[in-house]
Amino acid sequence: MKGIILAGGTGTRLHPITIGTSKQLLPVGDKPMIYYPLSVLMLAGIRDILTITNPSDTPRFQALLGDGSHLGLRITYAEQNAPRGIADAILIGAEHIGDGPVALVLGDNIFHGNNFSETLTENVGNVRGCVLFGYPVNDPQRYGVGETDANGALVSIEEKPLRPRSNRAITGLYLYDNDVVDIVKNLRPSARGELEITDVNHVYMERGRARLVDLGRGFAWLDTGTPESLLQAGQYVRTLEEHQGVRISCIEEIALRMGFINADACHRLGSRMAASDYGKYVMAVASELE
Ligand code: DAU
Repeated sequence: MKGIILAGGTGTRLHPITIGTSKQLLPVGDKPMIYYPLSVLMLAGIRDILTITNPSDTPRFQALLGDGSHLGLRITYAEQNAPRGIADAILIGAEHIGDGPVALVLGDNIFHGNNFSETLTENVGNVRGCVLFGYPVNDPQRYGVGETDANGALVSIEEKPLRPRSNRAITGLYLYDNDVVDIVKNLRPSARGELEITDVNHVYMERGRARLVDLGRGFAWLDTGTPESLLQAGQYVRTLEEHQGVRISCIEEIALRMGFINADACHRLGSRMAASDYGKYVMAVASELE
């Protein structure tokens, strides 16, 4: 399966922070935001990843992630020159997707929880139609909102409804079979002028081919859209990391644990950042798993 990280957009709710830099490069705890969605794809076993950014930000993402080979990945880049909607990522990435399935993750979504890797691999290996991931929230009006029948089939989906039918937000991780390319090609922009991902999911739902998997209460899905939520996400990450002594979404550690790189390579990556606690952690993990 191919992966896409959508890391464009304007980040206007974070102005002035995002006037001079990309939202997805901002720190969340001790690492850049994009590490979190990148980790999601890596934990799903996806190694061929297209990163979509605003044209002016591409060099900075390249400086951070390169071609991905140091992590045992292939990372390529494409540009979105205007925020034409989340589903636009599928058009931009059509060639990258080719004739197989794709996992699309939003560059500002943070997932963390028990058995997430298992949840991902189970679903990645089994994409017929689309698989969405739902999470209970107390302000569903801010998100895509879905309802399912007893079998987990999606029966309603709405974008930012005034009167939500459930409290289950649709998170920013979408698994699609290859039909998604044709579906997006036939999509019309919404009233706000965007190709809406919720409209794509609606087409799958009407075809009876959309599943919504619950991430559940023991899981964390965090928002980074406003200064408050960005700060809270950073505090959450640091609190857990300090308490447990492990790091969340450390891409070097994940690459090692997934078998994408060996312990030597991981240690070298850590040693390049040896002045930081993050770098020391990467070296320690590499030594431990040698
Ligand atoms: O976070 C999950 C939610 O993401 C879903 O529940 C909603 O259904 C979905 O529409 C989306 O809602 P948001 O209001 O959060 O979308 P936003 O416009 O903030 O974009 C999400 C991310 O995608 C953000 O990092 C910017 C990026 N983006 C967005 C658009 C519209 C792009 O890179 N290009 C775009 O054209």
